[in-house]
Amino acid sequence: MDDLRQKFIDLIAGATDEATLEQVRLSAIGKKGEVALKMRELGRMTPEERQTVGPALNALKDEIASAIAARKAGLEDAALDARLKGEWLDVTLPGRRRGALPGTIHPISQVWEEVTAIFADMGFAVAEGPQIETDWYNFDALNIPDHHPARGEMDTFYMHRTEDDDRPPHVLRTHTSPVQIRSMQQQGAPIRIICPGRVYRADYDQTHTPMFHQVEGLVLDKGTSMANLKWVLEEFFSAYFGTTVKTRFRASHFPFTEPSAEVDIQCSWEGGTVKVGEGDGWLEVLGSGMVHPHVLRAGGVNPDDWQGFAFGMGIDRIAMLKYGIPDLRAFFESDLRWLRHYGFSPLAVPTLHGGV
Ligand code: DAH
Repeated sequence: MDDLRQKFIDLIAGATDEATLEQVRLSAIGKKGEVALKMRELGRMTPEERQTVGPALNALKDEIASAIAARKAGLEDAALDARLKGEWLDVTLPGRRRGALPGTIHPISQVWEEVTAIFADMGFAVAEGPQIETDWYNFDALNIPDHHPARGEMDTFYMHRTEDDDRPPHVLRTHTSPVQIRSMQQQGAPIRIICPGRVYRADYDQTHTPMFHQVEGLVLDKGTSMANLKWVLEEFFSAYFGTTVKTRFRASHFPFTEPSAEVDIQCSWEGGTVKVGEGDGWLEVLGSGMVHPHVLRAGGVNPDDWQGFAFGMGIDRIAMLKYGIPDLRAFFESDLRWLRHYGFSPLAVPTLHGGV
């Protein structure tokens, strides 16, 4: 019995995994194990022998069982130790980069916000109108009658109508000027608004895209004059470009203003790049004038009581000038490399105190 004990104690100590240990258990104290075989021999013994051998065999069985349990616990502890050594995490490592780079704010959106911040500081509210307009708001109300050449010059997108459709003709607005009419109808005079928005013309080349952006301005009051217009624009351009910018007014013609002026800003052309606010060159950036009495009337405002100025400026154009963007069409191509290069951090919200 001592040999038997020693044999199994050695086997248990030598088992290095649970499967081997289970084999040892079966061959020792399983139903057909060696201890069970010995138990069967008890029947052939004398009662006296049985009294000593029986309990000894039972004790041996218990001893082997608890040796196996102890060994099993030891193996489990060792396995856990090995896992703990292998599976560890260095919480001091730098975080992993996100798969994709964060998005950027499109330069048009940025400039839109810059323009809004500057005019808001001068007391202008922001007004908006629909991009699908009736031809009355887009043309007639702005003193552009049916036969007027300006209608042809605008390369207008017309909305298709079936013959039995008796709704008024609609167009994609060709400029933000119709928002002047809608705003006058809604709030009357006095008024001081800008209207930034998308506009559409059937035109596509280096300097034209079928969709682009304008910002309209409208100020009506009792004594508003061209002098106020000039001050507002010089104030705007100086704030926008971050340097004093002179303007030059050239007599022009728009159906909706009388008198009308095209406005140039001072710039230099040295070394093939445009620098605004220096030199003796000029760059045309907007149309403007004193609002025509017909336009005031279309907006429900009495021209005998109120007068004022309006202007319309290309947002894309002034964005290109400020941020040195050479090609207009790239604005709308959604090229990720371009967007990352010219885009702005979402946290760089334009404010006057932060600088636009
Ligand atoms: N609506 C004109 C255009 O799209 C721009 C313009 C010129 C707007 C003179 C005005 C203005 O308000 O007074 O070309």
